Amino acid sequence: MARRKLIAANWKMNKTLSETEAFVSTLKDSLGKLAGTDIVIFPPFPSLASAARLLRGSAVAVGAQDVFWEPEGAYTGEVSGRMILDAGGSHVIVGHSERREVIGEDDDTVARKLGAALAAGLLPILCVGEKLKEREDGKAQDVVLEQLQSALAQRTVADMKRTVIAYEPVWAIGTGRTATAEDAVEMHSFIREYVGQRFGDDIAGRLRILYGGSVKPGNAGQLLAQEEIDGALVGGASLDPEAFVEIAAAWKEQ
Ligand code: PGA
Repeated sequence: MARRKLIAANWKMNKTLSETEAFVSTLKDSLGKLAGTDIVIFPPFPSLASAARLLRGSAVAVGAQDVFWEPEGAYTGEVSGRMILDAGGSHVIVGHSERREVIGEDDDTVARKLGAALAAGLLPILCVGEKLKEREDGKAQDVVLEQLQSALAQRTVADMKRTVIAYEPVWAIGTGRTATAEDAVEMHSFIREYVGQRFGDDIAGRLRILYGGSVKPGNAGQLLAQEEIDGALVGGASLDPEAFVEIAAAWKEQ
């Protein structure tokens, strides 16, 4: 089964409301080039509703960079899946390494957030990936396996039909170092194999696995040409609409 490529822009803590609006307006002018590719942008929370409103009816979806695991209540500063949906978001990133490392989210937190995202009706992108030392020690697959086992422990086949996984080696995020296409393909195949054992071949065959970590216009074509790489989660290079469009269109030019 052919999987559609999905290119996602993770802006992290960048762009004000007016900067978001300017990006969206440039992006809308380029939508012709992006036909056949699924595009999602992940602005910071204050810009989410506005981006979603401006993109309503277009082929571009909008998502949140994080979600809390409870649907509502006394949780100062947190945002629920219901609020994200209501603001026009359809997707959410769960378990990004910056949240794991900087904010201190552990595997249990990530699993709860994944469950909450699915329960709310959002489409989650679950991020996994090893640190440099772990790769150097030959433990990359062990680390990713542990993250998958924990995050997916409570998940069902139905959940997995709506879940995307992003392989983001921590040493490649924001560093300018990209995994080689071979390294990425090897890990993607490993992830797909695990998902196949756990949820069956049909789910594994339809699962989209994105690569993330210093994806740029210059390397996107080579990465996205791989059948195993179903798209990209783009950080730094997604802040510039022209670069992002170039990345999103790159696989077609191969
Ligand atoms: P980067 O970030 O493209 O800036 O390396 C990727 C990510 O963190 O999703």
